Amino acid sequence: MREIIQRLDEKRAAARLGGGQKRIDTQHSKGKLSARERVELLFDEGSFEEWDMFVEHRCVDFGMNEQTVPGDGVVTGYGTVNGRPMFVFSQDFTVFGGSLSESHAKKILKVMEKAVQVGAPVIGLNDSGGARIQEGVNSLAGYADVFLQNVLASGVVPQISMVMGPCAGGAVYSPAMTDFIFMVKDTSYMFVTGPDVVKTVTHESVTQEQLGGAMTHAGRSGVADGAFENDVEALIQLRRFIDFLPLNNKEKPPVVASSDPPDREDFSLDTLIPDNPNKPYDMKELLLKVLDEGDFFEVGEHFAKNMIVGFGRMEGSTVGIVANQPMVLAGCLDIDSSRKAARFVRFCDCFNIPIITFVDVPGFLPGTNQEYNAIIKHGAKLLFAFAEATVPKVTVITRKAYGGAYDVMSSKHIRGDVNFAWPTAEIAVMGPKGAVEIIFRQDIGDAKKIAERTKEYQERFANPFKAASFGFIDDVIMPHATRGRICRSLQLLKTKDIKNPWKKHDNIPL
Ligand code: HXC
Repeated sequence: MREIIQRLDEKRAAARLGGGQKRIDTQHSKGKLSARERVELLFDEGSFEEWDMFVEHRCVDFGMNEQTVPGDGVVTGYGTVNGRPMFVFSQDFTVFGGSLSESHAKKILKVMEKAVQVGAPVIGLNDSGGARIQEGVNSLAGYADVFLQNVLASGVVPQISMVMGPCAGGAVYSPAMTDFIFMVKDTSYMFVTGPDVVKTVTHESVTQEQLGGAMTHAGRSGVADGAFENDVEALIQLRRFIDFLPLNNKEKPPVVASSDPPDREDFSLDTLIPDNPNKPYDMKELLLKVLDEGDFFEVGEHFAKNMIVGFGRMEGSTVGIVANQPMVLAGCLDIDSSRKAARFVRFCDCFNIPIITFVDVPGFLPGTNQEYNAIIKHGAKLLFAFAEATVPKVTVITRKAYGGAYDVMSSKHIRGDVNFAWPTAEIAVMGPKGAVEIIFRQDIGDAKKIAERTKEYQERFANPFKAASFGFIDDVIMPHATRGRICRSLQLLKTKDIKNPWKKHDNIPL
């Protein structure tokens, strides 16, 4: 008996070594942790239960029958993060470069399927050379099975990808279908075709980093929702991030103990808006002052900076934040910001997370670049996402809410539940100057007349009271009381129950 038990220990120890100490050392020398070290850091100490440690590939071609490694290049199982269950698959680059075989895919599928059944998130730690070349089409089939499961799990349990090494070719489409993608600077990259193919086809010379590095995707393409300095920071931040999310689509958002009083007033907010309406201010200051303990996890920080999205808490309960940022492009809506916010709003709606929207938007960004690249369709995504969302929606207009952008930004008309405005709000079809130049075109040469007309327009529309008189704004509130008013609204909306008409699914303008 003792011998048998000892054999198990030996088998486990061999499996834990993956592709061997030498390859683990190489992994370390690149500044990367091993697949198992990552899992250990991600989960609460001692909570990880590994599955399928002894699974091996079944390939016999190219001498593969003589090269089997227990676990076959991916560590799978479940554990807890701050006591809550999560599933993980962590690709082991030391085993055939973390490449995906039929067996490797089956291991991933097993945790994904179980995650949907028990209602727990799936975290993928990607570090893989792609399809296991020796397995050919079986490997492609494995990918397709994973893609399908990504789709079936979408909107049921949160799926998060942390790309911590190579992720190239068709392999990128599994992370692409998850809810959030994070990357690690300098050691991870994602692209559909690598630099060599790019060179052959388009004659462009580009490095891996330029083509698909963490900052390329976090800042330029918007594929990644964040980029971290190294594996350790990435996993610590991932633990922080997942704490904001419910475990599945039937759960309410998680609540953590908070000692921040819900009615805390902040008088510095009364002077946040500059006297000059064209002067920017930092919307993040408002977010940090309103949210519990100033704790905000920004998503997509480096992309479409004219729109801020992310998670915070109010009275301990998770909320999603959508906010225009007047510091960048005057906070206007454009293609990138609309896409970014629309996807975020849809995530919140899938997972019962109330949305707080802070509005300071002068309109849509004009220009041929925007029109030719389909701002009409992309802007419609955000409008559609806000309109279809049935989670509690609280909106605060701090300054400008002009034109179509006013409608889009969670207005009363698209089922905003509680819509507040600060006294500094200007709710109008457009800014006073533009409006006067259109309706009083005949006076354009007369500066005095134009100034008078502008003042008149400003007095009439550049305030929240016209909109409030129609009930489009529920109340005009003191900036210092913003947190308290939002907290009360969210308390009220806890029992909100509305349903959209039955449909197979909607047809959001993709
Ligand atoms: C089998 C692979 C592999 C793969 C790497 N290895 N990729 N084995 N299938 N796809 C093995 C290597 O042979 C090597 O084995 C070990 O992993 C480490 O690889 P290195 O090349 O030494 O590492 P590095 O220099 O860091 O380069 C990493 C890499 C490179 C850039 C990922 O290995 C590479 O280009 N691999 C091929 C990538 C690729 O073309 N994949 C298929 C794409 S098609 P030893 O024994 O020496 O340690 C695809 C389609 C998916 O993925 C479609 C889905 C729909």
